[in-house]
Amino acid sequence: MTPPFSSPAPDHDPHDEIIPVLDFGGQTTQLIARRLREVGVFSTILRPDTSADELRAMQPKGIVLSGGPASIFEEGAPDMDPALLRLGVPVLGICYGMQLASRHLGAAVTRAEHREYGQANLTIADDSDLFHAVPSPTTVWMSHSDQVAALSAAHLQPIASTPTCPFAAVRSTDPQVTFFGVQFHPEVTHTPYGTDLIRNFAYAVCKCSGTWRMTEFAETQINRIRRVVGADRVICGLSGGVDSAVVTALLKRAIGDQLTCVFVDNGLLRRHERQLVETTFKDHFNIDLRVLDASKAFLKDLVGVTDPQEKRRRIGHRFVEEFKAAAEEIKGARFLAQGTLYPDVIESGHGHSGEAANIKLHHNVGGLPEELGFELIEPLRELFKDEVRKLGEVLGVPDSILWRHPFPGPGLAVRILGEITPERLEIVRSCDEIVLEEIISADLYRSTSQVFAVLLPVQSVGVMGDGRTYENVVAVRAVETRDFMSADWARIPFDVLARMSNRIINEVRGVNRVVYDISSKPPATIEWE
Ligand code: XMP
Repeated sequence: MTPPFSSPAPDHDPHDEIIPVLDFGGQTTQLIARRLREVGVFSTILRPDTSADELRAMQPKGIVLSGGPASIFEEGAPDMDPALLRLGVPVLGICYGMQLASRHLGAAVTRAEHREYGQANLTIADDSDLFHAVPSPTTVWMSHSDQVAALSAAHLQPIASTPTCPFAAVRSTDPQVTFFGVQFHPEVTHTPYGTDLIRNFAYAVCKCSGTWRMTEFAETQINRIRRVVGADRVICGLSGGVDSAVVTALLKRAIGDQLTCVFVDNGLLRRHERQLVETTFKDHFNIDLRVLDASKAFLKDLVGVTDPQEKRRRIGHRFVEEFKAAAEEIKGARFLAQGTLYPDVIESGHGHSGEAANIKLHHNVGGLPEELGFELIEPLRELFKDEVRKLGEVLGVPDSILWRHPFPGPGLAVRILGEITPERLEIVRSCDEIVLEEIISADLYRSTSQVFAVLLPVQSVGVMGDGRTYENVVAVRAVETRDFMSADWARIPFDVLARMSNRIINEVRGVNRVVYDISSKPPATIEWE
């Protein structure tokens, strides 16, 4: 593991170099920002109508115009400030962004009769910078209907083509304008050399030096936290998940004993969860950790409740109450730290309608309301999930926490279909433990995204010894996903499933049948409730 901060503080901020992406509503806009960060340059997503003046104030090294679902011929299609093409900063237009900028530069764009969708063979005519070291021909991913048709007075020159798209990539020859346009999508993995192209744009064209590294990000955040917090106290709610763990590690490094963490045991946790949090944070990180056992109150609130949303509502409400009470005990606390991530705060999501009000709400139980009266510290606001893990590594957060599967805030409550009772909780907790033990011992934990057991509200007939049984059914759910928005059921080997089933039926009283969930999301969801 990298020794954190043994080197002298860097003399530059990783944000010194930024290439923002103007979002015209493309499905893959976030990917453009991620690719830039992967190659070592900070990127952020901005509204499509961000003005040239606003951009100038950011002193970007380059600007990317994303793709989008609209046609530039549609009424109300998102437009850009054409002055950004003349800021003296290189601009890369992707798909819609290419068409829009090319038209502003005087090129003709035509409406295609058919949408071109899928892989295409690109022949490169100029590999001096953007296509440096990219083989020709190469495969690229296309998804467009309109396209640039004639360059005429635009001072644009073709630098790559496909059989159906003569201007698949163009560059400006106007000395006042450093513009490149690509009709295909370099940000998707279906374009095998796409990341090379983005790297070339950042380094060969925009002359970045690559300051976006986690050690440097950590260092800057630590300094910022120290500046903001001063001598005051910070409270941080721990959930046992990756995000709050990384926030905690960062704060500990920044302000040491001025940090107090609160962990609320809601009685809906997995087996040994509380001990894991205690060992990790109290013993390993030496944190002032207040563990609150509120399980009785939570379980009392849930008596007789079967509706999943009502369960969530009551758990969320109780969490806030308990957290508030715990926070009041911590004298002199002025700040509350939260593990909000970048996808939660991206302003766009809907591209051209993207306005400040359009911020996604996150449905985490850990999201605490403003009326608690604290000032918020959200040091992960700029990070994607994979970057949070990298930051955690830099800070020495153990792998057992960093690579954990996510666990929903309402916990086992949404994995017990129907009413929650202490007996049913014990059944699902025991099944969950067995399922996870078997996944880990088959070395499948890292290749799966979430694996758990669900207690169904049905009984089925079985036979045990000489007697007939009429007991509970448990479903095992295992999924693979990158973003949890869509997911496929995991192809767990039959012998692993067999071991889970045998152990559950033999070891967990009250279960006589185990089924495996083979539905993907959509149309199903990952959780059953
Ligand atoms: P679904 O079931 O919507 O789950 O496909 C997607 C991801 O979200 C998690 N999940 C929740 N997390 N509070 C949470 O903090 C919730 O109410 C909640 N519901 C679902 C789920 O575990 C999966 O990772």
